[in-house]
Parts: sequence; structure tokens; C-alpha cells
Amino acid sequence: VEAPKAVEPAPSAVVDELKPTQDELIIEARTNFEPIPLNVEEGYKLLKNNTPTPEKFELGKMLYFEPRISKSQLISCNTCHNLSFGGDDYQQTSIGHGWQRGPRNAPTVLNSVYNTAQFWDGRAGDLKDQAKGPLQASVEMAATPAYVVEVLKSIPAYVELFKAAFPGEADPVTFDNVANTIEVFEATLLTPNSRFDQFLRGDSNALNETEKKGLKAYMDNGCVSCHSGINLTSDGYYPFGLKETPEARLLAGDKGRFGISEAEGDEFAFKAPTLRNVEYTAPYFHSGLVWDLGEAVAVMSSSQLGIELSNEEIEQIVAFLKTTTGEMPKVEYPVLPASTINTPKPTF
Ligand code: HEM
Ligand code: HEM
Repeated sequence: VEAPKAVEPAPSAVVDELKPTQDELIIEARTNFEPIPLNVEEGYKLLKNNTPTPEKFELGKMLYFEPRISKSQLISCNTCHNLSFGGDDYQQTSIGHGWQRGPRNAPTVLNSVYNTAQFWDGRAGDLKDQAKGPLQASVEMAATPAYVVEVLKSIPAYVELFKAAFPGEADPVTFDNVANTIEVFEATLLTPNSRFDQFLRGDSNALNETEKKGLKAYMDNGCVSCHSGINLTSDGYYPFGLKETPEARLLAGDKGRFGISEAEGDEFAFKAPTLRNVEYTAPYFHSGLVWDLGEAVAVMSSSQLGIELSNEEIEQIVAFLKTTTGEMPKVEYPVLPASTINTPKPTF
């Protein structure tokens, strides 16, 4: 299968390898982290039971930006996961159908293909499973699978695009296939070549002294036990807080993973989120109650580690975290086919 050309190739001067180094901080950092591949099509390798093709990518991109598959026909994935700023919505908790406020803060879609499970409580196993949630959630897009299929089938250009993406299927316009194509598109939403990744690859000058002190403090104080690896997350669930209950925790008794597992240790446990591009993803936590990154770091140190960091250390860690901002996906805004007289009308 020919790999879709989703984005421009990375600058040829940057080589995707870890250069040999004597820099002790780089050596230590490499034991905890990994750079994101420069070729974002590497994201496809993480897909399961979904073979990426250029046709699925193009269709998935259109459906990601397609508001007509919501009941109001105003809300698309991009409404709450805006690819122009960090893949989320800058709301405390998301606003969806009928201006309703949802129960949790929207996490970023950027690099989400690295998550071993999706949502704050991990209730979806992968991105195609996940995408079916917001389309149907009454506080998000408020559609039904039948409605989504009806809208898409009313537009002949879409029917043709589904046939091309799923050759050999007699009736390819299905809710499952909507999710499959969106997953293929999302798999390419990686943010490579951050200054932190350049540092990991062996460029000692990619971080300044303050940022290096922040990285050291981040590793020495144990942030890495929950936020490490390629996507700066262990992918685990932890009680928020493990050591001390933070005020930023509670939103209408949301007990996190306990809601799906009912296991005792899961009470108030939430997924440790990625910290890549975290300067873009305010407000913070599942509750969205903290707008300031420094305050979020202070909350973490007391709630998860039971320590109090100095203001200087907090500033250094924040400076370090900002170096994880990578190159944002270059997505050409898709032109969507016109509605027909048979296309259902928006309802509220
Ligand atoms: C969670 C994608 C539509 C709000 C997520 C996640 C992904 C995603 C991948 C999980 C990220 C993670 O766990 O790190 C999509 C796609 C959509 C879509 C593909 C379109 C089909 C929306 C809309 C809204 C929204 C329209 C707002 C009205 C949220 C919220 C969460 C979330 C609040 C967290 C929910 C929880 O953890 O319980 N979305 N999203 N999403 N999204 Fe979306
Ligand atoms: C959330 C940083 C230590 C588990 C966050 C967020 C930041 C952060 C900035 C908010 C991200 C967002 O909402 O997008 C740090 C720093 C740490 C640290 C700088 C060290 C000082 C830890 C540790 C654990 C942990 C040790 C696990 C025991 C979590 C969890 C969340 C989170 C579960 C989500 C909480 C929720 O919203 O319910 N962290 N973290 N963190 N972190 Fe940490």
C-alpha cells in the first residue's frame, strides 16, 4: 500500500537518529524519553485492524472537519479539537450540542495515536472506537449512527469516496467506516522536531540552561514516573491525588476510572495525560480548573509527589515543558462536497 503523503517531509538537515553523545543530561534523558519520528506517517504503524491508504486518509480528513454529521450540523471534531491551536478547545469543559457544557476538559488529539487507551478514564481502546463516542454523545455532536449514514449517503460525492476507500465492500457508507477513516487521519497528527526532541537526538544547544535545569528537576523529582516515554505519559491511571487531594480535582463527583472499573484503587484515578505541547492545552486537568501551567505543576508536585517545589524549580520545569512543543501538523483545510435536497436539515 502506498503511504499517503499527509504532510511535507521534514527538513533534510535533520536526521532521525540519536547521535552518539557525551552529554550526561542527554544520556539520562534518553533513558526516560524518545523523540517523535520526523516522518509522521510512522503513526500508521500503530494502527490495528485498519490498513491506511491515501483514500482513507483524505476521507478521514474531510470527516474530521465535517459538521453535517452532528445533529446541529455546526459541530465537527475540529470544534473541540481545533488543529489551529493545539488540538483542543481552550474551554474549561467542552461546549457541545445546544450550547451544553460537557463533564470534562477536552484532551488534545495531537499524538493521541500513541495512547494505549483513549479518554480520561481509558474507556475506548483505540481511536476508531473512540470516534464513535463524541458523534453520539448528547452533549457533543448528538447524532446517531443511522443519522450519520443518512447524511453521508445523501451526498453522492461522499458515496463515491467511501467506495474508493473501501473497495470490495457492497455498502461501504457505514458508521464503522466513518470511524476507520477518521482514525487513519488522526494517526498522522504528530508533532515532531520539538526543541526537546532535537536535544534527545543529540543537540546539546537545543535547550538553554534554565530549560536544562527544568528537565533535570522533572527527572529528579519523579515526574517521569507518570509522564515519560515517547508521548510524555506512562499511559497509566493514577489517583488524583495520590498523596494529597487537590482542589482542582472535583467536578460533580467525577470518580474517573472507577466509573468503568469499579475497582477500589481506581477511585478518582485518571489517565496521566501527554505533556507534549502542554503550553497549548490549557486549561489543565480533567476538570479544566487550572489555567496556569506553573500552578498545574505546583498542584502535581503536592498531589502526586507529596513535595513542595520552589518557585524557581516550578519556573524551570515550565520552561522545560514548553520545549516539548513540536511542529504542528500542516493540514490543508478540506473542501467538502455540497449538500443535496435529500440531506437532512440541521435540528437543535
Ligand atoms: C476525547 C477525538 C469530537 C470533546 C477525545 C479523544 C480523542 C478525541 C482522540 C481522547 C484523547 C485522549 O484520551 O487523550 C475526537 C474525534 C471527534 C471528536 C475524532 C469527532 C468525531 C469531539 C467534540 C467534542 C469533544 C465535538 C466537544 C463537544 C472531547 C472531550 C473528551 C474528548 C470532552 C474527553 C472526554 C472524556 O475523557 O471523558 N476526543 N473528538 N470531542 N473529546 Fe473528542
Ligand atoms: C496531569 C505535570 C507528576 C499523574 C498533569 C498535568 C501537568 C502535569 C502539567 C496537566 C496536563 C493537562 O491537563 O493537559 C506533572 C509534573 C509532575 C507530575 C511537572 C512532577 C512535578 C505526576 C506524577 C503522577 C502524575 C508523579 C502519577 C503518580 C498525573 C495525572 C494527571 C496529570 C493522573 C491527570 C489528572 C487529572 O486531570 O485528573 N501532570 N505531573 N503526574 N498528572 Fe502529572
